[in-house]
Amino acid sequence: MTSNDSATSGDSAPAPLPPSPFAPQLFQGKRVFITGGGTGLGLEISRRLASLGAHVMIGSRNKDHHESFLAEAKAEGWSASAHVLDVRKLGDIADLVRELTADGPVDMLVNNAAGNFVCPAERLSEGAWRAVLGIVLDGTFYCTREFGKSMIANGGGVMLNVVATYAWTGMPGVVHSASAKAGVLAMTRTLAVEWARHKIRVNAIAPGPFESEGASGNLWPDGDVKARLMAGIPAGRFATASEVADHAVWLLSGASDYVTGECFTMDGGASLGRGMWEPGERVR
Ligand code: HXC
Repeated sequence: MTSNDSATSGDSAPAPLPPSPFAPQLFQGKRVFITGGGTGLGLEISRRLASLGAHVMIGSRNKDHHESFLAEAKAEGWSASAHVLDVRKLGDIADLVRELTADGPVDMLVNNAAGNFVCPAERLSEGAWRAVLGIVLDGTFYCTREFGKSMIANGGGVMLNVVATYAWTGMPGVVHSASAKAGVLAMTRTLAVEWARHKIRVNAIAPGPFESEGASGNLWPDGDVKARLMAGIPAGRFATASEVADHAVWLLSGASDYVTGECFTMDGGASLGRGMWEPGERVR
């Protein structure tokens, strides 16, 4: 079941948004749906779009994940709503799209919801594989198809998928997520071509590690793992979630109107080759 959540208060007080590089009210009159839009990167994208005038609708399974965004939206005077949604349930998505489009077109979709954890492939159960493939690959397609149909009917739209560089580099321990994200990347490029005639743009971002609760708990549960990850980033730091959100916002905006089927990496150089010598070292 999907249902509107009209909660209006919450305890958490997120850090104030850093100054925006975008014009105020850039998204005035636009309506966007963001899966997993109440936590992590999804929340940062939700906050940024709402602060720039969009009506932001977030979807997540857990109602608790709605609270922080709804409370901030109320305090800031942003236009926002939250909806209980499991992206693995196609029928629920179709119902929600019908409900949301009754109030007007949904102009943008951000497929951000993900599930991930580190597990050696030989120990990954069928249920674990299905859980991650179901959220990331099936969920992205189900939302894309249902919101896509409404965008086709309404004369166009913009979609943004969140992938990871290991979709093409591979990464031990996340065969489920890497396989699913590779599928989402193929979906991005395929639908960019297939739906261009409907004036729908489909792009992806591939952020490297950035600070967020979900990522830190699951992907770098201890300091050693985090230090190892950091050592592999030429820029010498993780991204901030708000930097990644700004990157996403640009791809959703009219400034990127001629960009489609693209995947923009933002990882401080982490996925690039490093050659055989330390930077600056001279070959004797
Ligand atoms: C091994 C695990 C596991 C773990 C769950 N499972 N966690 N197996 N190691 N750490 C197994 C369970 O035992 C079960 O297998 C199956 O997965 C389904 O688990 P459930 O908890 O029943 O499923 P569900 O409630 O749907 O949970 C989905 C989830 C969960 C993916 C397992 O972790 C989740 O929803 N996470 C969302 C938050 C998250 O992960 N965010 C991080 C995204 S960051 P059996 O055999 O019993 O059926 C990201 C960016 C990466 O993706 C970029 C890096 C550069």
